Amino acid sequence: MKITNLIIVTLATGFMAATSALAQDAKLPPASDKQGVTYATDIKPIFDASCVKCHSGDKPKAHLKMDTLEGVLKGTKHGKIVTAGDSANSLIVKAIAHAIPDQDSWMPPQHNKAGIKDLTPEQIGLIRAWIDQGAK
Ligand code: HEC
Repeated sequence: MKITNLIIVTLATGFMAATSALAQDAKLPPASDKQGVTYATDIKPIFDASCVKCHSGDKPKAHLKMDTLEGVLKGTKHGKIVTAGDSANSLIVKAIAHAIPDQDSWMPPQHNKAGIKDLTPEQIGLIRAWIDQGAK
């Protein structure tokens, strides 16, 4: 390959990677500016209403228990879903904001039989603020 072609290909690939990273970020609702967000006061009610039906009990889906803070921080059988201090890179945020290519990982699952609806941008923003503030 001629060197000019190589440069063009390199630039184009970099540009595409940058724009797709931006597209992913743009999908995330902004973090709430509420201070002092905690699991007990702000987050547990959201999880209780939208997640705990499938993520608690003897056989929680993906081995993820969401009815306690310990369970949420422990994560799934594959690992952590919360990266304290970094909501944009936390799997839980990508799953609830649909910022993940695999639609089977969108949470709650689309058209689930329990009729549980997607979280609102405000709820996602609150979860982001909770994680950014250390997931306490
Ligand atoms: C109707 C049942 C149901 C509800 C409600 C539900 N989930 Fe899930 N969840 C599942 C199932 C089933 C899987 C396993 C999906 C898979 O392995 O593809 C899963 C997996 C996950 C995973 C791991 C995804 C991955 O790709 O590894 C996360 C994170 C998650 N759920 C978070 C949540 C959150 C947060 C809520 C509430 C907003 C929620 N779930 C509500 C059924 C549910």
